[in-house]
Amino acid sequence: MMASGASWESEAFTRLDGEDGVVVLKRCVDVDDLLATATSGQADVAVVGLEAPGLDPAAVAHLRRYAVRPVAVVSRTDDPDVLTRAQRVDIGALVAFDDLATLAGAVTTVEGVADTRVRAEPGDLGEPAPATTPEHRLVVVWGSGGAPGRTTTAVTMASLLAQRGRDTVLVDADPYGGGVAQQLGILDEVSGILSAARLAGSGHLAERFDSTCRGVGDRLRVVTGLPRADRWLEVRATALEQTLERALERGDVVVDTGFSLEDEPGQDFGSRPSRNAMTLAALDLADEVVVVGSADPVGLSRLARGLVELRDRTGGAPVRVVVNRMRPSLGWSEREIAGMVEGFSRVLGLHFLPDDRAATDRALVAGRALPETGDSSLLRAYDALVDATWPESATPEAPGRRRGRRAGRRRGVG
Ligand SMILES: Nc1ncnc2c1ncn2[C@@H]1O[C@H](COP(=O)(O)OP(=O)(O)OP(=O)(O)O)[C@@H](O)[C@H]1O
Ligand SMILES: [Mg+2]
Repeated sequence: MMASGASWESEAFTRLDGEDGVVVLKRCVDVDDLLATATSGQADVAVVGLEAPGLDPAAVAHLRRYAVRPVAVVSRTDDPDVLTRAQRVDIGALVAFDDLATLAGAVTTVEGVADTRVRAEPGDLGEPAPATTPEHRLVVVWGSGGAPGRTTTAVTMASLLAQRGRDTVLVDADPYGGGVAQQLGILDEVSGILSAARLAGSGHLAERFDSTCRGVGDRLRVVTGLPRADRWLEVRATALEQTLERALERGDVVVDTGFSLEDEPGQDFGSRPSRNAMTLAALDLADEVVVVGSADPVGLSRLARGLVELRDRTGGAPVRVVVNRMRPSLGWSEREIAGMVEGFSRVLGLHFLPDDRAATDRALVAGRALPETGDSSLLRAYDALVDATWPESATPEAPGRRRGRRAGRRRGVG
């Protein structure tokens, strides 16, 4: 229950608390508190003041995602302004201040829409949200600090997948400032993720998602990232979740994230997202995580720690490990690295990418993805990575079409 100090709160509490079959779990002080309580998974219904500050479509979507059904207490149930606001935030169950005798009844009978736990979206009232096509998958690219090549990996994987004829959405969700737009030579000032966050806040993301994407070629859509690192405050986890859910309706999704998994508990609700909320939200929704580490000693120790952190923090989406910038001068073999990675985590596969400054520079200077700037050993290794991540996209070798896939090395682990 969350009333934000409204006058009806104590009467509502007394009436509910005395009702058979109703347990008032918590009287929440504000929307932040309410959303955190919903996340605990113990609540079935939220009784909210419709006018409570911060109760916006994204907050209600968060409740529904955790299967918490909202009942709003309002001044009048026949006031058009009230009804418009209720519709905007997507709450159908309304009880008037002066009719609290019916509150317990409303709480025990409020419709539990069976499929609200996932993919619910305010804004498409009345029509069911289009079901996410099950074969679309969400792959999140993550890696510890030290610029191991997360962005290069996300951009190249998305670009190769699109080149294979699959509709693909690349989302830059790095809270420390996006690099995807630069790598793809997208120069306009409009940030896809900021406009998606604004649309999510106003409840219009469903119908206007496409306006947040930039097309690159026929099959690749790009949601560009934060133009400056300090704008992370504008993107809440719920907004990113909705963006990714929309993206999944368009195609396979590849997400570039930040390096840190540090969480500030309780910060990620209401108006104050936590710094790493975007990274954590993406990882929570991932079907598969690609962890990128550098092959040098510092990079490998970060990779080892990162794998442990990831295992502790996330719900166990399968992990694929990419060791980037392999070079003979480092003096260790793939087998030695495989032994180390195996010791830290069970992974789907371990992939090695060669250090190839010439190829990455060519792409960076051209402002194009690697696959568009000519063949290289690095590109062949990425091709093998995409074969493994989307086996269904790996067509039988057609002469002249595919680059020599055997050159990409992959080692199964665990
Ligand atoms: N295999 C490679 N060979 C040579 N250079 C590479 C390779 N992979 C990435 N790089 C280069 O390393 C630099 C960092 O890569 P990238 O921006 O992809 O890293 P990141 O992990 O996203 O870093 P950040 O923390 O800045 O987001 C870039 O200049 C990129 O071109
Ligand atoms: Mg990056």
